[in-house]
Amino acid sequence: MDARDSMSNPAPILLSRRRLLAAGAVTLAGGTSAAQDAARELGPPRSPYGQRSPHETSARWFAPSPMPGSAASRTPLQDAVGIITPSALHFERHHAGVPALSPSTHELLVHGLVERPLVFTVADLRRMPSVSRIHFIECAGNSSREHEGRPAEDAQRSHGLLSCSEWTGVPLGALLREAGVRREAAWVVAEGADACRLARSLPIDKALDDVIVAYGQNGEALRPEQGYPLRLVVPGWEGNIHIKWLHRLQLSDQPAMSKDEAASYTDFMPDGRAQWFTFAMDVKSVITRPSGGQRLAATGFHEISGLAWSGRGRVTRVEVSADRGSTWQDATLSEPSLPKAFTRFTFPWAWSGRDTWLQSRASDDTGDRQPTREALVAVRGLLAGPDGFNHYNGIKAWRVRPDGTVSHV
Ligand code: CO
Repeated sequence: MDARDSMSNPAPILLSRRRLLAAGAVTLAGGTSAAQDAARELGPPRSPYGQRSPHETSARWFAPSPMPGSAASRTPLQDAVGIITPSALHFERHHAGVPALSPSTHELLVHGLVERPLVFTVADLRRMPSVSRIHFIECAGNSSREHEGRPAEDAQRSHGLLSCSEWTGVPLGALLREAGVRREAAWVVAEGADACRLARSLPIDKALDDVIVAYGQNGEALRPEQGYPLRLVVPGWEGNIHIKWLHRLQLSDQPAMSKDEAASYTDFMPDGRAQWFTFAMDVKSVITRPSGGQRLAATGFHEISGLAWSGRGRVTRVEVSADRGSTWQDATLSEPSLPKAFTRFTFPWAWSGRDTWLQSRASDDTGDRQPTREALVAVRGLLAGPDGFNHYNGIKAWRVRPDGTVSHV
């Protein structure tokens, strides 16, 4: 279908006229609907910590795992509105379970190539000057099956190792300056207090730039599965380096070459060699509505809505195609559109009832634009590493069939 056709008559937004008339009739009849009856009941009293409506059932998805300590769960992106992921729905990736840590005994050690090794309690960190910033976190292996050519059936399974929160904490640079960075220090090795002591190395330039030692997420303390009481937030970089349950920072003149940077989280190239230390997540987008598993109940107006993000900066443009990629039109970027954060995009679309492919492609302020899968595979090949493919950012297509069902392509 021609994308221009779908735009030729964006208004009026035709919902069911019959339903609008019925609503008017209820008002005229003096109000006998079930909704008005229910409002006469007091309902539950106030509560110390809120719960969502029992009618809302959106949930993280995970496959059964024989090793529950090493597992992942995925965010239901297809149900998301706005740009903030509720903390309870933030994706999880654990390599050795979720440790039960107390903020009264947990400590952060800063040592190695520093003038003064220091230990910070959680209370110490909460006294220091703080920042709150909105950033996405995306697992390096997100959308791995798209790279493979075996796409998942819905947005949660294909792109759900991805979430976005407001993070609050202390800039890592401030802690390092307290300790005094020695001139030979080129790397910071960050280690978690989980059972596998997951460790990653990051270059000192990034550590002094925009990294946060976070204790807060979306207005409250971190959730245990997100690293309570302390995690590293490394804006724009692959999820594995956002070390959870952070308890040690060692400054060094070389990287640790830990398991998670020497073997896992590397990118295999067609010649069989692996790229190490590929950190930034490239510009990417996905349409979340309509998306796989959903069904359009009627022809006519549907707002296309989705998420775009770049680990290298700000999303500057998202284009949408409704004709198998022959023509592209600019989507509207919702405010705020922040660097290294989700940007919500929308596009007004009128569905004619014909078989249609919907696709989005994002660009960022470094000039990068999301590639097709074919272009990406031509460079990166199809040789998977020990943990599959990492850093896939190809364009995603959803197919709308004449019966309204939406499926992966
Ligand atoms: Co990487």
